[in-house]
Order: sequence, then C-alpha cells, then structure tokens
Amino acid sequence: MKIAILPGDGIGTEIVAEAVKVLDVLGLNYESETANVGGAAYESHGHPLPESTLKIAQEADAILFGAVGDWKYDKLDRPLRPEQAILGLRKNLGLFANFRPAICYEQLVNASSLKPELVAGLDILIIRELTGDIYFGQPRGRRSSPDGHFPGAEEAFDTMRYSRPEIERIAHVAFQAARKRKAAGTEGRVTSVDKANVLETFQFWKDVVSEVGLQYPDIALDHMYVDNAAMQLVKEPKRFDVVVTGNMFGDILSDEASMLTGSIGMLPSASLNSKNQGLYEPSHGSAPDIAGKGIANPLATILSAAMMLRFSLNQPEAAERIEVAVKKVLAQGLRTADIYSAGTTKVSTREMGDAVVKALA
Ligand code: IPM
Ligand code: MG
Repeated sequence: MKIAILPGDGIGTEIVAEAVKVLDVLGLNYESETANVGGAAYESHGHPLPESTLKIAQEADAILFGAVGDWKYDKLDRPLRPEQAILGLRKNLGLFANFRPAICYEQLVNASSLKPELVAGLDILIIRELTGDIYFGQPRGRRSSPDGHFPGAEEAFDTMRYSRPEIERIAHVAFQAARKRKAAGTEGRVTSVDKANVLETFQFWKDVVSEVGLQYPDIALDHMYVDNAAMQLVKEPKRFDVVVTGNMFGDILSDEASMLTGSIGMLPSASLNSKNQGLYEPSHGSAPDIAGKGIANPLATILSAAMMLRFSLNQPEAAERIEVAVKKVLAQGLRTADIYSAGTTKVSTREMGDAVVKALA
C-alpha cells in the first residue's frame, strides 16, 4: 500500500499530522511519501501542483489530502492559485466520483443550527460529479490582466457541459451506493438534482440518469431542481438518502448539507476514479484564520483516512476501528472549539488526535 500525503496549506498540516498518527498505530504495512501542494508548493516550487507532487500522487494507491488555499494568493494569476492543485489532481487522476457523507453524530445533535429533531439520526450521502460541468467547460483562462482579473472587459463567461458517459458513470456510482446502503438498512433512494427547467445540460443530465435508473429497479429515483433541493435540505433533510448531482451544484449543496451535522469539521470525503484510486480529504477548507493555533478539528481528516482504508486500501476492519474510536472520543465529551458546547471538554487539535489514538488502543 502506497499513500501520498499532501498536507497543503493553513490547518492542512495540523490535521493531516493527526490522521497520520492514527494510521501509524493501526499496525498496517504501508509506505508513504509526503509532498507540498497548493500555496505551500507555490512557495517551494513556484507551482501549486508541481510535476513531482503529481507523480507521487499518480503512483500512490491513495492520497491523504489536507486543504489548500490562503487569501494571500488571491492576486495570483488563476493557474497559479492553490485551488488549481486540487482541480488538477482531480482532472489528472480522473477522480470523477466525490462522496460527501453528511452524518449527524448523536452527541453533536445540539451543535447543528437546525432543531435537533430535524437532524437526529441524519445519514445522507451526497455524490458529486467532480471532473466535468462548468468547472471544466471551455473556454477557460481568457484573462485580460496578468493577475486574473478583467480591467475594462465587457463580459466574461464559462460554459456548462456534460457528456453522456460522464453522466452515466456517476449515475451508476450513485445507484450502486444506494444499493449498498439499502443492504445496510436505508430506504434505497437516489435523488438526482438538476436545473432541467432552465439549463439544457441538466435536462440531458436528468434524461441520462433516468435511463441508467432503469437498470436499478430496486432503487427509487426522484428528480429535484437544485433550488428546491437547497430548501428541502434545511426543511426536511432526512427525506434524502443518496443525492447525485453535477460538479457545481454538488459543491454548493455539500457545504449546505455539512452544516446540518453541526460542523464541517466532522465531515470526510472521498474522490475516486474508475480504478478505485482515491483522494481523501476533509470536506472543509484550509481555514487560514485559525491556522497555526492548534484548535482545528482533526476528526474530518481522521475519518477521511478511514474512508481511504475502506475504499482504496481494502482494509474495512481498520476503517471501522477508526470510526468506532471517533465515536468513543465524542462520547467521552471531548470537543474541539468548532463543536464545543457547555458541559463538554474543550481540547486542542493534538489532544483530539491523541484521544483517538488512545481509544484505538
Ligand atoms: C471543494 C472546494 C473546491 C471546489 C475548491 C477549493 C476548488 O470548494 O472541494 O468543495 O470548488 O470544488
Ligand atoms: Mg466546496
């Protein structure tokens, strides 16, 4: 097993260190290589995704990724900004299937901004297509100034595009995920989110998802416009099981869904290609405002490492052990600042990592 470790920027280095600590006590036999990515790589190599980093990622079975980005790079030419590193990794490795579970842990019901009864027991899975849509449509990069802005320009545009194979493969991923979840007790429903009432791309999306759905008669399929989905997520989130949608809508809805659970600091994610090679990262960003303070929540990254063991490294028992350990530390009342409430114990990033390590023992 070969793991590429790419901590990145901001809190990335702090949270990845805790996840590595957890991996190290599991007694697995793995090789790892660490490399700079994002702003850190821009500083060291002049590019957010240097060839050397890309190569390490390509040769690994899995990538454990922290986060990239810092406001101080906002003035850089767009291809040099830290965000391009994650987009480049997704595109270069063909990581088209992004799994973003939103699970509300029993102990954190009160950390949600929604009423406890709306979120207690919430367990939904957002599957976001990750290598198509307006993110990668042509034309890109028509800038009129070197810093990526448009002085004096009269217009700017991006194009939304999906091909049939791109929609088919993500639809299959969603139906198969719903099937697996159904075997474990969920309803077996896929909700495909589109904007077919306005956009041709998403009428096409809806048609293709429906066609694929015919191959999964055991799974219910419904379609929802993205604006309604945004509303339903806060109105009645538990009505969802698996949500499948395009790159842009998935970006937005997954942030929204994460907040239902109390903190984005709890949510892992996986981005897989057709060979089950995967990039695993917390759903949150680099949080430069709290970087270096030792207060970030490492649990999303630790849970991402668990997803990595399950999806790419074929170690489901080790994954389960991590997940059980995380529940245990929550039950012990340990909380980083983002999930702290009166009556619990506030701990630092490192203390949280140490507690998970101890719970594993
Ligand atoms: C995410 C992030 C990225 C995205 C950014 C950092 C490019 O918001 O992974 O959700 O928009 O996909
Ligand atoms: Mg996002």
